[in-house]
Amino acid sequence: MKLLVIGSGGREHALAWKLSLSPRVQKVFVAPGNAGTAIEQRIENVSITSIPELVTFAKTEQIDLTIVGPEIPLAAGIVDTFQVAGLKIFGPTQQAAQLETSKIFAKEFMQRHHIPTATYVSFTDALLAHQYIDHNSTPLVIKADGLAAGKGVIVAQNSEQAHAAVNAILVEKNLGSAGNKIIIEEYLQGTEVSFIVMTDGHNILPLATSQDHKRLCDGERGPNTGGMGAYSPTPFISPDLHERIMHDVIYPVITGLKQERISYCGFLYAGLMITADNQAKVLEFNCRLGDPETQPIMLRLKSDLLMLIENAINGTLDKVNVEWDQRAALGVVMAAYGYPDNPRKNDVIHGLSDLIIKQKNTDNFHIFHSGTLLGGINGKEFIVSGGRVLCITALGESIRIAQQNAYELIEKISFSDFQVRRDIGYQGINFSQKEKLGAS
Ligand code: AMP
Ligand code: GLY
Repeated sequence: MKLLVIGSGGREHALAWKLSLSPRVQKVFVAPGNAGTAIEQRIENVSITSIPELVTFAKTEQIDLTIVGPEIPLAAGIVDTFQVAGLKIFGPTQQAAQLETSKIFAKEFMQRHHIPTATYVSFTDALLAHQYIDHNSTPLVIKADGLAAGKGVIVAQNSEQAHAAVNAILVEKNLGSAGNKIIIEEYLQGTEVSFIVMTDGHNILPLATSQDHKRLCDGERGPNTGGMGAYSPTPFISPDLHERIMHDVIYPVITGLKQERISYCGFLYAGLMITADNQAKVLEFNCRLGDPETQPIMLRLKSDLLMLIENAINGTLDKVNVEWDQRAALGVVMAAYGYPDNPRKNDVIHGLSDLIIKQKNTDNFHIFHSGTLLGGINGKEFIVSGGRVLCITALGESIRIAQQNAYELIEKISFSDFQVRRDIGYQGINFSQKEKLGAS
């Protein structure tokens, strides 16, 4: 079979790599891909991004199945367009993707279906939003309604910050039309986890649990990013909590969508806050896999990803069993100087060649690329081309050992002024340690 993966990040590298290992796959095209996907066996990059061009490519190349990585093409209706053209594609329609593309849609949906989330009020009028802030205590969370590339959420610790956020989004329109509406939300305290499932619209297949690290610097300091590292599974989701999340969040979403006649076939990501009383509340929905969560999740997935996706498309996800590596996986992101505000490009990455040879002969680690391209001398050097550059992902008998393995690999890789967190997985490691002490 010939497959097409849409996107260019670490998530898409991990997806394409995993799909390329399926015995029935002849070739995985990635549009547009990165230097990591360029060098994998049975994977080929195609430098196109517009939906009409992708449709033409899928028809000409007789692509059997397309898998969408990021939210932007989903928001632009790529799934609807491919389906109209008679092409098989995995991902939610534009209408269903509103769970991610409109915070107000998601909040109203959660209210209608009694899904636990922070209380909120929505505003289009800045004056009313300012009044609301004056009458409520901080912290408060201000969110732009639309997609804002990770810049649409401000956790305001005091009222000055809250007023400034309202002005920036609603008055100055610094996020464009994504900020035509906002919500002001109750601040939730707790531990954030990522809960990702596959669904065919009726049946649900939960993937392995994971935890991301959103802040740039160690100990949750610095600006929010797309994610600086992730590990799987997370001990914060016990079997009991897993069952409650399925019961209180995931089933009501799928049932609610069905009741509202919105068909949803694809990955669904619930960003959850686990509060002090061990309750899960929804921070956000994404209508796709997480990046970097996908990298450790794919390294642990033993089942054939193509088989899972085919079952989802055929509405038979209830018929599949999924098998995971019992080891933990942990991915650490190496980011460019200046990320997230102004990442510097064109630095040369050193130390990858030996590791690429090694990773062909082991399933213990994989280096997933994001912002990289091939260039420099003979076009064979790896060059920084974006904010998050690499995600070094390793397996280990525990989160701590996976962490050690990932950081040992990082020692061998360098580029000028790269940024890396040194504490990826620390919450999971501390939590497991405490549980062990409690049990002994
Ligand atoms: P979102 O894109 O809605 O997940 O928000 C981005 C980040 O802002 C989340 O990963 C949280 O760290 C933080 N956040 C969002 N909503 C809340 C909330 N209600 N309380 C506390 N932190 C939040
Ligand atoms: N890692 C967070 C996200 O993919 O949205």
